[in-house]
Amino acid sequence: MTTAAFRSLMEIPVVGAPLAGGSSTPELTAAVSDAGGLGFIAAGYKTVDEVGRQIEQVRAKTRRPFGVNIFFPTQLATDEAAVDDYAARLTGEAELYGVALGEPHWSDDGWEGKLELVARERPAVASFTFGCPDRAIVAGLQGNGIAVWCTVTSPTEAKLATAAGVDALVVQGAEAGGHQGSFDDTDEPPIGLLALLQLVRDATRLPLVAAGGIANGAGVAGVVAAGASAAQIGSGLMLTPEAGTSAPHRAAFASDAPTALTRAFSGRRARGIVNRFMLDHNAAAPRAYPQVHYLTAPLRAAARSAADADGINLWAGQAYSLAEATPAAQLVARWGAQALAVHG
Ligand SMILES: Cc1cc2nc3c(=O)[nH]c(=O)nc-3n(C[C@H](O)[C@H](O)[C@H](O)COP(=O)(O)O)c2cc1C
Repeated sequence: MTTAAFRSLMEIPVVGAPLAGGSSTPELTAAVSDAGGLGFIAAGYKTVDEVGRQIEQVRAKTRRPFGVNIFFPTQLATDEAAVDDYAARLTGEAELYGVALGEPHWSDDGWEGKLELVARERPAVASFTFGCPDRAIVAGLQGNGIAVWCTVTSPTEAKLATAAGVDALVVQGAEAGGHQGSFDDTDEPPIGLLALLQLVRDATRLPLVAAGGIANGAGVAGVVAAGASAAQIGSGLMLTPEAGTSAPHRAAFASDAPTALTRAFSGRRARGIVNRFMLDHNAAAPRAYPQVHYLTAPLRAAARSAADADGINLWAGQAYSLAEATPAAQLVARWGAQALAVHG
C-alpha cells in the first residue's frame, strides 16, 4: 500500500480501535469515520450475521471508509488438565454469582464465514489480531480492493506479517487495553510502544498504526514523530456516548486503580483495571484461549448484570483515566487539531 493510499483512508491520523465485547457499536464506528478518522467494526465474538448487520448499519450512517477487525484463529497447545483445575477453582465464583460455569471449548470464532462476508462486503480495511493470514488469503482480500492490516507486538511478528504481504501493521505496545494481539501468547514481557515502534520501523517499510496508551492529541503527535502514520485509540473512546461500554465498566474508569495483564478472564493475556477477580485468580489462570473465555463467560455476564465491577473483565489501557464522556466526533477532531499543533 502506498503512503498516499493509506492516507486516503482518513483525514485525521486516528483509528478507532475495534473493541470486541460490547464497546464497539455501529454508532461509534460511523462517528469516528465521519469525523475524518477510521472507525472499525469488531467482528470478534459476534456471529457472521451480526457482523453483516453492523456493516449495513455503519453504511447507513456514513459514506466514509471503515474497517472490520477479525480474530485470527488461535491454535496454541492447551493443557486440558490445567483448564479442569482452573474450572474447579472457579466453582466458588459460580456459587457467588448463581450461575453454572461455561463449557470450555475451542472455537475459530466463525473464521471462514467472516472472511467470506468481508470479501463480499468489501470494507476499506480488514484487520487481524492474534495472528496473520497467509499470503493467499491476504492477496484474495486485496484482489477485492480491501486493504489488509495485521496487529503485531514484536519485530519478529512484523517480519512475518510483512512477508505475508499485508498493507500496514498495527503496532500494539504493552500499554494497550484488552488482549495482546501476539501470535503465540508467550510469557515474554510485552514491549512498550515507543521501543516497539522503533524496532518495527527498522524491520519493515510498511505504514504503521501505533496502539497502546494513546489518549489525546499529544499522544497522537508522539507516535507520529516516532514513525507511525496513525494512532489506534481504544480506551480513549470507551466513555463516549456512542460506545456500548457497560455501566459498571464505565464507572470503573473513574477509579484510580492500576491496570495489569492477566489470563484470569480469557486464558490469553489482556490488560484491564485490577479488580477482585483478577487478584484472586491471576496466578492460577492457565494459558488456554479461548477455552477460559467460554469458561468464565457466564460469570462475567452475571457480574455485569449485577453491576459488580469486581467480577468483570475491565479491559483498559494504561492511560484509561484520560478517557472522556464526550461525543466521539468531538474527540477525534480535537485530537487531530492537537496533533497538528504539535507538528505544525
Ligand atoms: C475493551 C477492548 C476491546 C478490544 N477488542 C479488540 C478487538 O476486538 N480486536 C483488536 O484487534 N483489538 C482489540 N482491542 C485492542 C485495541 O485494538 C487496541 O490495541 C487498544 O485499545 C489500544 O490501547 P488503548 O486501549 O490504551 O488505547 C481491544 C481493547 C479494549 C480496551
